[in-house]
Amino acid sequence: MIVFGVDVGGSGIKGAPVDVGTGELTGKRRRIPTPRPAAPGPVIDTIARLVDRAGWSGPVGVALPSVVQDGVVRTAANIDPSWIGVDARSELAQRLGVPVEVINDADAAGLAEVTFGAARAVDGVVLVLTFGTGIGSGVFFDGTLVPNTELGHLEFRGMEAERYAAARLVEEDDMNIEWWASRVGEYLRYLERIFWPRLFVFGGGISKRFETFSHIIETSTPVVPAGFRNLAGIIGAAYAAAGEPTEA
Ligand code: BGC
Repeated sequence: MIVFGVDVGGSGIKGAPVDVGTGELTGKRRRIPTPRPAAPGPVIDTIARLVDRAGWSGPVGVALPSVVQDGVVRTAANIDPSWIGVDARSELAQRLGVPVEVINDADAAGLAEVTFGAARAVDGVVLVLTFGTGIGSGVFFDGTLVPNTELGHLEFRGMEAERYAAARLVEEDDMNIEWWASRVGEYLRYLERIFWPRLFVFGGGISKRFETFSHIIETSTPVVPAGFRNLAGIIGAAYAAAGEPTEA
């Protein structure tokens, strides 16, 4: 089964058709810059344009940087606050005229990694973290998602953890990458004391550079880079929209 996955990020809205049995993209990945402000109307218009450009008319899965319950957006840390309370699933389904599922972006990335990627077949507790404008988290036990954990908003060193250790500090504020990685290490050690995970999966765009800073991150738990790097959100969103796991 093929589903069109969409990942709404701070700078771009990206989408591609995905084979939800294998996690592979079956067509070109397209990207349109995120409109400003990233309010519901303009973002929904952009998603519609992306789907249209791909000539797609089947089911669509959308990953948003928000807590999403039953399709309804509950938080908006890094998108326009007017999203809060919007039934994104219904609005998108109405606009696109196809079945739509909407989930949190880090949960989507985690689903891709746990099902097809770096944490495939890993039992026990796995934490998938995405480092970007904020910090997103996907918590899994034996491959099953505990949705909408917001570990980037845990208080750490007197502030929200994502203010202390998001990749935006390097990507936008020019923080030295090794200095930033030492902060990430502190944060991961804090998460270790709470969750005792078997594995950390390190995601987000900056995971492309994982080899350059991984030696700075000292944890007892293994840390591996995301297998799908920044495609994980698209793949996981498509997978979530396919409903129950399908045969590979
Ligand atoms: C949001 C999360 C999101 C993460 C990554 C955080 O600020 O609260 O819902 O997963 O950023 O985009």
